[in-house]
Amino acid sequence: MLGLHSPQTGRKGRSTSVASLLLHPPQLIEDRGNISEAKPVWLHEGHLESQLWFVRRTQMSEMDRRGFIKLAGLGGGIVFASSLGLNTLGSVLDYANGYAGKKVEKDFYFVQLSDTHWGFSGPKVNPDAEGTLKKAVQVVNSLEEQPDFIVFTGDLTHTTDDVQVRKDRMAQFKDIVGQLKAPTVHFMAGEHDASLDRGDAYQQFFGKLNYTFDHKGVHFIVLDNVSDPGAIVGEAQLNWLKADLQQQKPEARIVVLTHRPLFDLYPDWDWATRDGAAVIDTLMPHKNVTVFYGHIHQEHHQMTGHIAHHSAKSLMFPLPAPGSVPKKAPIPWDASAPYKGLGLRNIEAEVRQAKYGITELNLNGG
Ligand SMILES: [Fe+2]
Repeated sequence: MLGLHSPQTGRKGRSTSVASLLLHPPQLIEDRGNISEAKPVWLHEGHLESQLWFVRRTQMSEMDRRGFIKLAGLGGGIVFASSLGLNTLGSVLDYANGYAGKKVEKDFYFVQLSDTHWGFSGPKVNPDAEGTLKKAVQVVNSLEEQPDFIVFTGDLTHTTDDVQVRKDRMAQFKDIVGQLKAPTVHFMAGEHDASLDRGDAYQQFFGKLNYTFDHKGVHFIVLDNVSDPGAIVGEAQLNWLKADLQQQKPEARIVVLTHRPLFDLYPDWDWATRDGAAVIDTLMPHKNVTVFYGHIHQEHHQMTGHIAHHSAKSLMFPLPAPGSVPKKAPIPWDASAPYKGLGLRNIEAEVRQAKYGITELNLNGG
């Protein structure tokens, strides 16, 4: 279990721990093959607990730490430190250089849920198709410290040609997630919700397909790369994005939320946005950009230049790794490990450093 122990050192003891961390980086840090051009840091269970705890302390505010320790008891798996501008060691050195404690934007955390596919039916894939989303709502509601907000990154509902069934599913989905205790929920569409009617029903239930919001020093941009059946963002939205970014300083903290990957992860499986390169080009002048998306029903982490892209698991069925099998198809339910491959995530935003610590949460508490 992670993070359920006491600190070995207080703030005054950090310099000792810094030395310890610097002396033993191989125990704590390993590269992942799917990450390039930057050195994000993966922290796995099983590392020396006192060191792991310390690394987390360097990444989290007081509020985050309290929340995280409680979250860890729910079956958190891996923490991923998305490093933009500074890496984890940079954070430690930052403290040593006296920046810590200065007044900065308040850190916070939010929860990402994705690909709930309400209305899907397939007992061999998910025999609890009607219960999984409700279970996820319970998991989020059971967090002792509620997130500032929740985001759903698309495919709220499973696709259907029947307009009335589509609307029924959206109404049912809305009822279920209406039980969430968090004060704010941000929605976005997936192609299952929006590609057959260009987002008409979706907008009736959930509002705009693309929009922005600001939270505690972070500028969030919700991009729609699904309502056009050509899997594009489109020129009009691209111009809207450019105009929005012109209002942001180069060092602004920017988080993009979208459904499809913006880079070419695996176009043969529709795991790409056809004009995603233009979106990334538009974002590139900004130093601190992170993208959270869904669509591929599994975790994936990739850099395009200095921009980090993180996909989330589904809450209905997992999909295989990109190109790992001849045909994309849901991974069957494993009765010996219910809900395996499904999950949601907690994202700790450390605003000043534009860092995002991801903790994957399971539905089975394991
Ligand atoms: Fe999906």
